[in-house]
Amino acid sequence: MKTLLSAFLAAGLMAMPLGIASAQENQGSGASVEANSDAATEDAGEIAAEEGHSESPHYPLKKPEELSWSFAGPFGHWDIAQLQRGLKVYKEVCSACHGMRLVAFRNLEDLGYNEAQVKAFAAEYTIQDGPNADGEMFDRPGIASDYFPSPFPNPEAAAAANNGAAPPDFSLLAKARAVERGFPTFLFDLFSQYQEAGPDYIHALLTGYDQEPPAEIADLIQDGTYYNPYFISGPALAMPTPIADDQVEYPDGAPQTVDQYSRDVSAFMMWAAEPHLAERKATGFVVMIFLVVFAGLLFVVKRRVWAGTPH
Ligand code: HEC
Repeated sequence: MKTLLSAFLAAGLMAMPLGIASAQENQGSGASVEANSDAATEDAGEIAAEEGHSESPHYPLKKPEELSWSFAGPFGHWDIAQLQRGLKVYKEVCSACHGMRLVAFRNLEDLGYNEAQVKAFAAEYTIQDGPNADGEMFDRPGIASDYFPSPFPNPEAAAAANNGAAPPDFSLLAKARAVERGFPTFLFDLFSQYQEAGPDYIHALLTGYDQEPPAEIADLIQDGTYYNPYFISGPALAMPTPIADDQVEYPDGAPQTVDQYSRDVSAFMMWAAEPHLAERKATGFVVMIFLVVFAGLLFVVKRRVWAGTPH
């Protein structure tokens, strides 16, 4: 009985690819015959529509490059110098359009700044406060407990100033964007603990400008948007090339290139989105060691408890 079953199974498995191949052949030849004949049936129409659909581009046009980040993997930790550089890039370039409303100035103490430095940094920002006793809003210099303000008074004003697309807030952006990895990569990711799709995407986006769009894509680009093959939801986005070589001065001698700026600001955005990432990973590692030791203990105890029972 058993041999019969497995023989059936084997035969079925072997026949499967043949069956699929012949089905595909039938469909292929059927489509061409119908398309060639004058009296095109509804079927042919459907197939043509499907073909048209498969030709529409799939975004992003290019997959982001996988970079090596200090905060990747089970021993991930922040590169404090990199985060400080990223903050500088954010402050001098990106903050002209992007706010970060969930990060307070006092959180910058995590990046190695002392209280006085944080106070001085906050004071460089103007914060709207109020209403005062007369019922009016007023501006004052920032204090450590304020949050990074948005450069625009409301999302409508932000959109109006940027060709209809409001620049998204940076607080959680590094964890809100990720390009699908596809089969089988996403299976490997389970084991390698790949969690850096956000910063990889942002780096790819920032370094992906100034490329020539292929002819069939060029027609799809609307006026006032900029071609970028790494943009996740279309061929072009409303953000112009935000940064150029040598735009931000680095006091620590790191290269002043678009590539380096993009790495640093992406790492900084990852910190903003998950400031406790390093603690989470360190705790996770200790928990795994504990579980292994505990499993060993349980095994020994189990043997002890059942030692006197005949079996
Ligand atoms: C001139 C204003 C401006 C500046 C400066 C700017 N951006 Fe943007 N950014 C935008 C706009 C507008 C959008 C929305 C684009 C869209 O959705 O079409 C955007 C979107 C983004 C996105 C999201 C893309 C997506 O997948 O939706 C990221 C990431 C981003 N910007 C990063 C940055 C970084 C990093 C900097 C600093 C180096 C920066 N931006 C500087 C205007 C700006």
